[in-house]
Parts: sequence; structure tokens; C-alpha cells
Amino acid sequence: MGDTLKGSYAVVTGASRGLGRSMALNLASRGINTLLISLPDEDVEAVSESCRQKGTISLSFEADLTVKSEIERVATAITEYDISILINNAGIGGTRSFLAIDPGYLDNMIDINVRAPVLLSRHLLPGMIGRKKAYILNVASMASFSPIGYKTVYPASKKFLQYFSVSLNEELRRKGVKVCVVHPMSMRTNSTVTRRIDSQGLLGQIGLLSPDRVAELTLRRMFRGKTFIVPGLWNGFNRLVLYLVPRWIKVPLLSRAFRREIDMGVNR
Ligand SMILES: NC(=O)c1ccc[n+]([C@@H]2O[C@H](COP(=O)([O-])OP(=O)(O)OC[C@H]3O[C@@H](n4cnc5c(N)ncnc54)[C@H](OP(=O)(O)O)[C@@H]3O)[C@@H](O)[C@H]2O)c1
Repeated sequence: MGDTLKGSYAVVTGASRGLGRSMALNLASRGINTLLISLPDEDVEAVSESCRQKGTISLSFEADLTVKSEIERVATAITEYDISILINNAGIGGTRSFLAIDPGYLDNMIDINVRAPVLLSRHLLPGMIGRKKAYILNVASMASFSPIGYKTVYPASKKFLQYFSVSLNEELRRKGVKVCVVHPMSMRTNSTVTRRIDSQGLLGQIGLLSPDRVAELTLRRMFRGKTFIVPGLWNGFNRLVLYLVPRWIKVPLLSRAFRREIDMGVNR
């Protein structure tokens, strides 16, 4: 990792629970200070406290990242810190028939999964470029490797993040900022996701990793300079299968598997 990052700050969105919380605690264990962002009235301050107990500085910020003015407000509040890492982790998904989804929920999904990472990167990059070393990590998903019926906007939003990350990384090649994208498979992060994973039976168990393990594998690879990260050996294999299997086979198969979640009533 190198000493240039010790004492600098990492920004983590969606840090109150799940993968974001694991990322924050992992960074604190490495001596990196944290600026943690989550929705108001949630548990983000408790995560900050756990980071402080590891001997680092940690501050929590409450903001709804689906709201453009909130992104600007929180970005302005944190630009004064020496930010070396931005982790765009906050994201929402779900499995539902497209016509059954409230349009407002779709709008929120695009805002949090797509607009927030782009705008936060744009706001914070100027300060990060002046450092010797800096990283942006965007959290996509294994779902980005195939279109999937009943998930529609989610895989498309994560594919966007993949293209955005690799393109921006190329553009910043000589500017000291590495832009990475991680594609996790299933993680039991919250009760809804856990029910969805369990409803898929054996399929849900393939490549299943804990959020702590995904955070460790991802950060380790990010610090080694990898752009494109698929955590876990099994998931590397899964990704290869999704790459090799033709679209006319994989799309109906995956869509049918996720349709089962709706039939079992475990969607969110
Ligand atoms: N879990 C999986 O199986 C899985 C698989 C592949 C990829 N991923 C991706 O990994 C990332 C983390 O997933 P997770 O399962 O850990 O999520 P999670 O447990 O649902 O936590 C989501 C985090 O995002 C925050 N958040 C949600 N909406 C927000 C908003 N409008 N403004 C600010 N913060 C907001 C939540 O804050 P509050 O606690 O304040 O609500 C929470 O901290 C997501 O991008 C997800 O797409 C997850």
C-alpha cells in the first residue's frame, strides 16, 4: 500500500452497513482516516466510532445521494481534507417486473448507482490529482456481465460504472489517480439480500463471500494497481462463463432464475 496513504482520508459512500461498512473498517485497520457518508438517521456514526477505535480519525456525514444538491453539499464539506481514496459503494437494486416498479424507485436507482459516483468523482478529483497516489473505486456487480430480465436497470447501471471506471482510468493514466471497478457476486449484507440469496438455493451459494472478505480482496488488489477486480476464484470462473456463454442462452437462463425470487415473494 505504501506510506503515502497513511494519515490521508478515504471517502466511503453507503458506509453504514454491508460492504461499505466492511470497506471503512478495513481502511481504518490500514491506518487510513475515513469520511463516511450514508442516509440520515442510520448507523453511520457507529461505524465511524469503530474506525476511531482503530486509532484513526473518522467523521460521518449524512446525505441522500439521490439528491444532486446533497452531493454538492457533502462534496463541498469534505474537499478540505487530504482525500486519497474515494469509494463509490452506495447502490440499490432489487428484482421485480419492470412494470411493477414505482417510477420513483427507478429514478432513485439511476441517481444513486450512476449519477452519484460520477458527480462525486468530478467534485473530488481536482484535490486528489495533486497527491502522489490516489484511488477511485466504483462498486459494480457481477450482474453487469449480462443483461437480466426482472433486474433490467440494475445490471445496466453497473455496466455503466464499469465503462465509466475504465474510461476515466485511461484518461487519468499520468495523473497519479487509479480508477478501479469491482464486480462482487452475492454477499449476505442485509436481510432482503440474504432472503434473495437463500431463495436461489445452490445457485445462490456459488461464489458467495462475506462483505469483509470482499472488502479485503478488493482493497488488496486496488493497492496493487488493478483496474478491473472480480473478488474470489469462483467468481473469476463465473465471469469467464458469463463471457463465453452466448447471450441467447444466458439471458433467458438468468432471467428465469431471478424470476423465481418474485414467485417466492422475496424481492424488494
Ligand atoms: N449484496 C450483494 O449481494 C451485492 C452484490 C453485488 C454488488 N453489490 C453492490 O455493493 C454495494 C453495497 O451493497 P450492500 O449489499 O452492502 O448494500 P446495503 O447493505 O443495502 O447498504 C447500502 C448502503 O448504501 C447506503 N445508501 C442507500 N441509498 C443511499 C442514498 N440515497 N444516499 C446515501 N446512501 C445511501 C445505505 O445507507 P443507509 O444504511 O443509511 O440506508 C447503506 O449504507 C452496492 O453498490 C451494491 O449494488 C452488492
